[in-house]
Amino acid sequence: MSLLDLTRSLQSHLTTPPDQLEDISQIYDQLIEVIIRHNQRYYQESDPLIVDYEYDQLFDYLKKIEKTYPDLISPSSPTQRIAWQDVVQDQFKKATHEYPLLSLENSYDADDIRDRHDRSVRLLTKSEITDEPVYIIQPKYDGISVALTYTDGKLTHAITRGDGYTGDDITLNVKTITNLPHTLKTKDHKPKTLIVRGEIMLPKSELARINTEREAAGEPPFANTRNAASGTIKLLDTSIVRSRKLVCYTYDILTEIEEWVTLESLGLPTYQTTHHALHTTHDIDNVITTCLDEELQRELESADVDFDGLVIKIVDQIQRDVLGSTDHHPRRAIAYKYPAQQVTTQITSIDYQVGRTGIITPVANLAPVLLSGVTISRASLHNFDFISQKDIRLHDTVRIQRSGEVIPYIVRVVTEARPADATPIQKPTHCPSCDHHLEYDDIYIYCPNTHGCPAQRKERIIHYVSKQCMDIDGLGDKYVDVLVDNGFIENIADLYTLHEKDRTLRSLPGFADKRVEQIIDQVEQSKSRELWRLINGLGFPSIGKKLAKEIEQAMINAALETSNSQLETFVSYLTNSERLTAIYGVGETIVEWLQHFFDQPENREVLSRLADYGVSFSPQTTNQKPQTSISNIHFSLTGSLGLPRPQIVEILEWYGAIFDDTPKKTTDFMLVGDKPGSKSAKAEELWITIYHSISDFQIYYPDVIFPEIKKEEQSPQQMGLFG
Ligand code: IVH
Repeated sequence: MSLLDLTRSLQSHLTTPPDQLEDISQIYDQLIEVIIRHNQRYYQESDPLIVDYEYDQLFDYLKKIEKTYPDLISPSSPTQRIAWQDVVQDQFKKATHEYPLLSLENSYDADDIRDRHDRSVRLLTKSEITDEPVYIIQPKYDGISVALTYTDGKLTHAITRGDGYTGDDITLNVKTITNLPHTLKTKDHKPKTLIVRGEIMLPKSELARINTEREAAGEPPFANTRNAASGTIKLLDTSIVRSRKLVCYTYDILTEIEEWVTLESLGLPTYQTTHHALHTTHDIDNVITTCLDEELQRELESADVDFDGLVIKIVDQIQRDVLGSTDHHPRRAIAYKYPAQQVTTQITSIDYQVGRTGIITPVANLAPVLLSGVTISRASLHNFDFISQKDIRLHDTVRIQRSGEVIPYIVRVVTEARPADATPIQKPTHCPSCDHHLEYDDIYIYCPNTHGCPAQRKERIIHYVSKQCMDIDGLGDKYVDVLVDNGFIENIADLYTLHEKDRTLRSLPGFADKRVEQIIDQVEQSKSRELWRLINGLGFPSIGKKLAKEIEQAMINAALETSNSQLETFVSYLTNSERLTAIYGVGETIVEWLQHFFDQPENREVLSRLADYGVSFSPQTTNQKPQTSISNIHFSLTGSLGLPRPQIVEILEWYGAIFDDTPKKTTDFMLVGDKPGSKSAKAEELWITIYHSISDFQIYYPDVIFPEIKKEEQSPQQMGLFG
């Protein structure tokens, strides 16, 4: 049966509830097969057979069946992430740009633009081109630059800008963007290959929706649409990319094309303003007037996608070729950047937020104002240094600015408009959450009531359960609030007692049965998460995800004693200053903080409770290998290097390097220790990079961590192993 026939036959079942189907497992299998084949048509062949609506209906029905008959769920089902692997990339391939993607020189005012025009005219005149350049003005899209290739009219490649010469192949993700055609309109003109530049953007309305979801799930919001677009387009799971409604606008054709062919005539999307000013003109005064036109700026700033200026381009192909480009910028175009939009508003009150480490951040509540299409009602005042430097007072009139960021910034106080009731902002003396006396440290004010302060407790739990840490799904900020406020939990160890209160939990607002089950299940699963998640989750100051991973790796390499309990081994490692400072990125301050943390009996108690509940404190050697600076690099060894040779090999291999027993042409580097064997001469002959000690090697590869080298521990037998 053809794919279409099979699809139509399945569609005839979609109105029957799954529990009334007779041959459910046969229909289930067919549905999986059909959806996978439609995925391939859509993503790989750019030739969808059914419309999105029909596809979604099939997919929804598959989900319904799986909900009704969970036992039926097959690992090859498209609802199970792994099944997407035949359609979805497991990592992005690098691709070379046929035409380098240069960036533009910026201009900020009329003089810059005029100056550039004069220079172009001079250059053209030198080449005996006396016609004044004709300009076209386009909006400057603020997103992620991409090169799109259409081969025989079909979208075949989408490559990120990267360094301008090579980028990531993001074709599959780009194909989920619904405003970008997979097929060109080429009725009168069929280019074999067409390469265009475009910009991928996330609409502001989508950013708001995604950020609301992320915040509810305890994930950090994206700071702006550009970051969100960039984070989205680099996701490996195409189905998530598809669910975020990215858009793409095109602005430049890179391949040669008949003069009358335009992006629009090919059916490619360009952003259309209602403004009359974006016409072609040879008059530079006209260009300048358009750039300074505030009405146009307002129109672009209130659009659902972000623009940060205009681009002025010379139209004529010969003039463009004559002008050429510098190393970085083409001379045929220039960007005009809009000044960051500012508005005036008033500070109505001040809040003090208490962070997880007790630091108090002053936040200004503002009379709500619209700024670049977003309503702003709060701005961070950062710390008291910021407040005094800018002399910000309560009830002051302030100028605020958003420069692409969602969080607005107070630029200055409008002192001319300072109202009579403006009052200096007093440093708080008591914690807004627990009323404890606050302490001052340099520019920071903090609440020292580490263990008693409800706000700090909440923030610590929120941090512990977040995606970057123990990843306890379903327990967003709001749920933590309710649990703490109702006395269900006080600290992270209490999370592991929630299952005992299963029944009463269900009576809390928002805690539906499903939610409670999810939370309890996720808490249980968190017991065996990777150790770096726990290290990050414990919230030591200055230790983030990256360092937590380094620490876990260092613990693995150290092949720690296992005679002690997991927790004892963990604590003794994290309080051993010698071992810690050997880790790249750990300095004296971190060592002191860790010592301070483990000195506190409250923390010790929480840790021992976590261990009692079964939370793993041991590093996991089965961790997925990280991409490191020596992944896939070939190495060889000879001579005595202070560590047993198999251990060095094991460590380097763990980091992804490949061991060559004898140096070859393809060997990238060689560690040559004392008393080297003949292999050292071979390496020199082959021009292989040589490092004469592990520390010499680590200067170039600081992310590769070795255990401490104790010379006295080497036995003659070990020495004999080398070379
Ligand atoms: S033209 C050779 N036009 O702004 C000319 N660029 O630094 C190539 N951009 O990297 C660029 N809107 O990502 C051009 N209408 C537009 C644009 C635009 C946004 C981006 C592009 C480029 C950056 C300029």
